[in-house]
Amino acid sequence: MNTYSVHTNLLNCIFDDMDIASYKERVEKIHDELETSNDMTGWINYPLMDHEELFNSIEKLKDEICMEADVFVVIGIGGSFLGARAVQEALTPYFGVLEKGTEVIYVGHHMSGSYLQQLIHYLEGKEIYINVISKSGSTMETTLAFRVLRLYMEKRYGEEAAERIIVTTDPEKGILKAIADEEGYKRFAVPPDIGGRYSVFTPVGLLPIAVAGIDIRSFMDGAKNAALELKNADLTQNHAYQYAVIRNKLYNEGYCVELLASFEPSLKKFHEWWMQLFGESEGKEKKGLFPACVTYSTDLHAIGQFIQEGSPILFETLLHFNQIEGDYIIPYDPRNEEGLNYLAGRSFNEINATSKQGTALAHAEGGVPVIQLEMEKLDAYHLGYLMYFFMKACAMSAKLIEVNPFDQPGVEAYKRKMLELLKKK
Ligand code: PA5
Repeated sequence: MNTYSVHTNLLNCIFDDMDIASYKERVEKIHDELETSNDMTGWINYPLMDHEELFNSIEKLKDEICMEADVFVVIGIGGSFLGARAVQEALTPYFGVLEKGTEVIYVGHHMSGSYLQQLIHYLEGKEIYINVISKSGSTMETTLAFRVLRLYMEKRYGEEAAERIIVTTDPEKGILKAIADEEGYKRFAVPPDIGGRYSVFTPVGLLPIAVAGIDIRSFMDGAKNAALELKNADLTQNHAYQYAVIRNKLYNEGYCVELLASFEPSLKKFHEWWMQLFGESEGKEKKGLFPACVTYSTDLHAIGQFIQEGSPILFETLLHFNQIEGDYIIPYDPRNEEGLNYLAGRSFNEINATSKQGTALAHAEGGVPVIQLEMEKLDAYHLGYLMYFFMKACAMSAKLIEVNPFDQPGVEAYKRKMLELLKKK
């Protein structure tokens, strides 16, 4: 068998009983470990807590920003920006911004001087607020961009700049906290027991998401529902653990690449968030699946050949949303030169869904194991659910290969080398 159905919303999983039984005890043990640990597991119960005060202050600030600013600049890297950007791109229009939101732009996630120069040029004449997000407060990419943007804000706004600069960082320590306190910037806390890639439900994700015009309460309701449903230690009931177990089985069978595939281009940044979550959580001690992503049908015309007939190293996780806002009906054309009139009256979304079915069948036939994750609707609620689902599955997956899901020791290596080189110069 090489097709696994994991239907969500939330979900009905079809599995081989033997597979489930063989993992049952290990999964229960890891579940207990995760639930009772205090080591960077604050995200597990975070959506279940009362955040009314936080939501109110974010919504109030969002209203102020949308009223006063044309552009909201978010400065951060890795877990400090990918979640917000993923949600924003998935739920805002392809062209333009939501009526209830303002334009959100990201910087500090690379060191391109060209990007920064163009950004500064783009900001000229526009009203701006900036939000620097860094838990440590010391990430080079973020702090360098913040230096530039802070000076720019002071030049543009003088003393008023302090009212337009927002800092999201550790509540107890770090240079950003010190700067914010000294300068009187508005400050939001990244809970100390929540790491970057597990922080999208904290102010790290919530403020930019709200400013983009997305309903953060609905997003958090989805996360809360997932947190409740996925608290179940029973593998036969817990879909996140089922997904983790299938990944682990395939990994043990020699499939070392997981390809996450979606059918909406608006999910590209969501892919990046997923890739960082799994890559940074699992890839250590010479272990872990390599997380890769494709958007269909675009990439079927790029990498589809390899998937169908190339080296048998990958399995595929197809992510599909049954309801997508907006659709287009294929028009009838009496000329019918391309012979496509048989599709007239049908919708693009219907054809897209059929392309998903065809892809799953073809790839399974080609020997590529296919997991299918199916969500009801692409909206804030379901995205909140899905992000929590992946976080829970990721923690379980990492523990199944006996690595720590919550550290990233390997990321330091490039920083050390870069600093050595910079200091030498
Ligand atoms: O997931 C993680 O922990 C990392 O990707 C961090 O978010 C990233 O390195 C940025 O760190 P910081 O928020 O300290 O600037």
